[in-house]
Amino acid sequence: MSDPISNILPAIRERFAHVDSCPFTGDRVFFENAGGALTLKSVVETSAKFAAIPDNQGRDNAASHALVDIIKQAKADAADLFGTQSGQFFVGESGTELLFRLIRTATVGAPDGGHVVGSTFEHPATRSALQHWAKVSDRPYLTVDHDNETGLVTPQAYADVVNHNTRVATILHASPVTGMGVDLAGIVAAIRAASPDCFIIVDGVQNAAHGTLDIDSYDIDGYAISPYKMFSRHGYGFAWVSDRLTALDHECLIGGPAQNWELGTRDTGSYATMSDVVNYLDWLGAQVAPSDNRRDRLVGAGRAILAYETQLTDAMIHGIGNLKGLKDIENVEIIGGTDNPARKGLVSFRITGRPSAELVTALNERGIRTHTRKADHYSGGILNPLGWSDCVRVSMCHYNSMDEIRAFLTAMQDIA
Ligand SMILES: Cc1ncc(COP(=O)(O)O)c(C=O)c1O
Repeated sequence: MSDPISNILPAIRERFAHVDSCPFTGDRVFFENAGGALTLKSVVETSAKFAAIPDNQGRDNAASHALVDIIKQAKADAADLFGTQSGQFFVGESGTELLFRLIRTATVGAPDGGHVVGSTFEHPATRSALQHWAKVSDRPYLTVDHDNETGLVTPQAYADVVNHNTRVATILHASPVTGMGVDLAGIVAAIRAASPDCFIIVDGVQNAAHGTLDIDSYDIDGYAISPYKMFSRHGYGFAWVSDRLTALDHECLIGGPAQNWELGTRDTGSYATMSDVVNYLDWLGAQVAPSDNRRDRLVGAGRAILAYETQLTDAMIHGIGNLKGLKDIENVEIIGGTDNPARKGLVSFRITGRPSAELVTALNERGIRTHTRKADHYSGGILNPLGWSDCVRVSMCHYNSMDEIRAFLTAMQDIA
């Protein structure tokens, strides 16, 4: 295979920790990236460095000034990665916590009356937050249904539900269960056509590591990611918020700057690790899409990542050489079908009549780490309408190799 990413795969893999072996179990193929992507070695180093620094921001000493500059730099780096010149970035406890804050602010602060809209496609982070704050602010919650066949939700499905009374809407950019990414700009346009001033909050947690981000083109009010799913580490979430949402009454310290979203002392290390992620993607962009402009390199990296991941999922589904793909293994069913252009690096499947947990264990025994998704409060929204009680989720990233797909398919022939 010759494409820009596979040509430099060893150099890419070299930049990540625990690429082919687990500190607890030894050698393994890591196909659990939707549960938490591999961590950049630079992130590990940066985290240790900042964990040891006792100084706080906002003091008049050189260390404190340096910390403030590092946070400022991280926000500028994030602006290039997310593709926005407006709004602001801030860290929080997790993707879930940030989505709750953005949705809480929008739903409590939106003009009285009307209703709010979310979809069955979403992760419970946004579903739960919007339903909770809809109840508190006494507004009906209307549901947009996703499409079982394609494993995604469409602009038309939103258009069928929203109207001029829609005050807040939530959108999941890509699903960690089906693996599909939505037409985000199209959905936003459908919402804005009916309700131009609607507050629109997007869950970008699963999408972030699998392509390009272009906030300014989406016309939204909030976007949250989980850095541990984008090559950084656990312990914080990262959000962008529009100036319009900031202008709503939101929680901040009395007497402090009214635009502030940061609550309490910052972990400078969390911001610094976002710079590591941007610097890594910038390096990748310089290899696969050289340009003098950093934003162009970041977009080039995102495009190359998605194109490469599509090759990986196509190989997994359709086979490589003599190795049968998933679609040709008896009784395998794949969520979203075999040739879905919306797929972003993730394949969820089952073998009818066999518990998925048993398959995940069998794959683990063969050194392949995947994950079972059950029809619980996380994945039931997708699995229940299909009539599935569970599935095996195989989630990849651009550092995974064709050899790893071969190892997976070889294991699957054996297991099936
Ligand atoms: C789409 C999506 N949204 C939200 C979350 C929650 O993110 P966090 O673990 O940072 O709270 C996840 C985690 O799996 C997710 O996949």
